[in-house]
Amino acid sequence: MKKIMVKKKMIILLLSIVGLLITIFATLFIASGIFTKPEYLEPWQKSYFQQFDDPRIQLVAHGMLAANGHNMQPWIIRLDKENSTAFYLYADSDRLAKEVDPFARQTMISQGTFLEYIRVAGVNLGYETNIVLFPNGEYNEQSLAESMKEKPVAKITLTKVEPKNSSLYDFMFLPDTNRAAYQDVQLTSEQINQLQVINTDTEMSIKFYQDEENVIKLGNYVIAGAKIESGISRINEETADIFRANEYQKNKYRYGFSFEGQGTSGIMKHIMQGLITIIPSINNEKSSADIFVKSTQTAADNTPAYTMIITKENSRVQQVKAGMLYSRLILAAHSMGFVLQPPSQVLEEYAEMEEQYNKIHEEYAPEGGIIQMFIRLGKPTKEALQTMRRDVMDLIED
Ligand SMILES: Cc1cc2nc3c(=O)[nH]c(=O)nc-3n(C[C@H](O)[C@H](O)[C@H](O)COP(=O)(O)O)c2cc1C
Repeated sequence: MKKIMVKKKMIILLLSIVGLLITIFATLFIASGIFTKPEYLEPWQKSYFQQFDDPRIQLVAHGMLAANGHNMQPWIIRLDKENSTAFYLYADSDRLAKEVDPFARQTMISQGTFLEYIRVAGVNLGYETNIVLFPNGEYNEQSLAESMKEKPVAKITLTKVEPKNSSLYDFMFLPDTNRAAYQDVQLTSEQINQLQVINTDTEMSIKFYQDEENVIKLGNYVIAGAKIESGISRINEETADIFRANEYQKNKYRYGFSFEGQGTSGIMKHIMQGLITIIPSINNEKSSADIFVKSTQTAADNTPAYTMIITKENSRVQQVKAGMLYSRLILAAHSMGFVLQPPSQVLEEYAEMEEQYNKIHEEYAPEGGIIQMFIRLGKPTKEALQTMRRDVMDLIED
C-alpha cells in the first residue's frame, strides 16, 4: 500500500514537472512568435518579383536583397512619371546609422551594392541597365541629409534586350553575410585571379591576403575593432535600437538585426527570442558586448583569407562604385563556394577608432587610398540564414 502511494506521488511529481516544462516552453514560443508567418523573408523567394508588372519594381525587388550596412536598407525609389523605363535611387537619410557611419560612407556603399544587384537581375530579366551616378550633381556635404532627399544617387534607364542566363543571378538569393567560422582552406591562385578580374575600374583595387603574417595581423585588427566598438555606449544603443527580438517585431520593422544574422535558427532561435522578449535585461549592454567580442574572436581565429576594396579617393562616386564591386565580389565568391563577412569596425570614422583606422590605412593603403571594405573570405562551416527585408513597395515613393 505504502509502495503504491510513493509511486503515485512520483507520477504526480513527474507530471507536474512535465506540465511546468510544457508551460515554460509554450510561453517562450508564444513570446517568440513561433506561429507567426515570417513575412520579412518573402522578398527572398525567387518568384517574389513576379507579382509586379512594372519591370522597374521587378528589378528593385532584386536590389533590396543586397548586403547593406546595419541592414538599414537605406533606399528610396522614385519612378520616372514621364518615362516608364527610368527610375531614380535616393539614399534614405532617415535610415542612417550616424554613430558607426558618421560620414554616411557605408550608406553610400550600400547604394552601390543595391545597384549591382539591379544590374545582374536586369541581365536575367532581359533589361540592359544604364546607370548614371549622381545625375543631378553630387551632394552638398554641409547639409548632407537634406541633400540626400533632393539629389538622386543614380538614374537607372532600362532598355529591353534578350534575357540571358547570368551565372551570378541565382547567388543573389543566398544570404550575403556569413559571420561564422570558416574552413581552413585557402584560395588557389586561379581562384584569386577569378575574383581579381571582376574589377575593371582603375580607380579602385581588390587586394587578397592569405599568408600567415597578414592573416594574423588582420585578425588582430578585426578583434581590436570589435573590442573598441563594443565599449562605446552610444554605438551599443544604436545597435540595440534596431535589434528585433521576436517574429512580431521582425514582421513589423523588416530591417535591422536579428538572431538569424548571428546564425541562430530553429528551436534555439525561438528559445532565445522568447527569453529576451520576456526578460529583455538578458540582452543588456555588457552581455551583448561580450557575445560580440567572443564571436568576433572565433571568426578571426577561423579565417583563412582577407580581402579589401581600396579606392584612390573617397568621393561619393567611388564609395558607390566600391559597393557595386562588393556585390560583384559576393556573387562571384558565392558562385565559387566561398562566403564573406565585412568586419567594418576599424574602417569606421569616429574618434575612438581613429588610431586603428590610421594604422590599417598606413599599413595596407600606404599610397593614400581609402579602404572601403575589409572582408573575411573563406569556405563556410555553417550555412548563413536569410535576414529581414522590407516589402518592395515600401521603398517606392512619389
Ligand atoms: C558597408 C557595409 C558594412 C558592413 N559592416 C558589417 C560589419 O561590420 N560586420 C558584419 O558582420 N556585417 C557587416 N555588413 C553586412 C551587413 O550587416 C549585412 O549585409 C546586413 O545585415 C544584411 O544581411 P545579409 O547581408 O546577410 O543579407 C556590412 C555591409 C555593408 C554593405
